[in-house]
Amino acid sequence: MKIAVLSDIHGNLEALQTVLAKIHALRLDEVVCLGDNIGYGPDSQAVMDLLAEHKIASVLGNHEMAVKNRASLEWFNPMAQKALEITRSQLSGPAVSKIRKLPFFLVKHGLRFVHGVPPANVFLYLFQVPEKKLIQKLDRLQEHICFVGHTHDLGIISWDGACLTRDKLVPGVCQLEENKKYIINAGSVGQPRDGTAAAKFLVYDTQTCQLSVMALDYPFADTGRKIIAAGIPKMYAEKLAVGAEAADKG
Ligand SMILES: [Fe+2]
Repeated sequence: MKIAVLSDIHGNLEALQTVLAKIHALRLDEVVCLGDNIGYGPDSQAVMDLLAEHKIASVLGNHEMAVKNRASLEWFNPMAQKALEITRSQLSGPAVSKIRKLPFFLVKHGLRFVHGVPPANVFLYLFQVPEKKLIQKLDRLQEHICFVGHTHDLGIISWDGACLTRDKLVPGVCQLEENKKYIINAGSVGQPRDGTAAAKFLVYDTQTCQLSVMALDYPFADTGRKIIAAGIPKMYAEKLAVGAEAADKG
């Protein structure tokens, strides 16, 4: 089975449409989203509609959490709060109801999916977890792989029971080993912060244990214009062109 893993679409319809066209062309079996489907971008409602149309399952991200529970807005910096207020005003009642029902994690085909850190943390970043704690988490992980998002950057942590390694992920194919455990960061479809503008997503083949990192060009200038027109802080439009490291949190 070949599974596409998408994260941090962030209301970027052009990037999602490009990614879904590729997924269709590759005839992949299933798609799972790691949350933050909304926020920052201009088309949060349209992104949710498109995910629903394709029956794509998703976990809760921290941006969905801010819609579900307004007290969570305090976690964000003022620019992100402003973007989230606009996002909230764009969402329909049914969309908000749907967000309230999103799970903190999913387990499918022996794989775990969570926004931040396993087993089910939405707000914590992987880089905030001390190595000893990370090893504990990997030891307790029932699944072979946990896919995460949240940082908008790509990366892979592997654990063989004795040695923990952290590596960057770049576009291409890498072979995983069945006897290791992994935490894999899928990067971002719609607000990348890995230094390049392309929309990123992963494809995992459960039979061959091959992981493919996909990077697709899309018309980010169109998305940027829509961000500005919607009154969302301009910095989120500017970052699209460069996939820049953001001053604010995911
Ligand atoms: Fe995010």
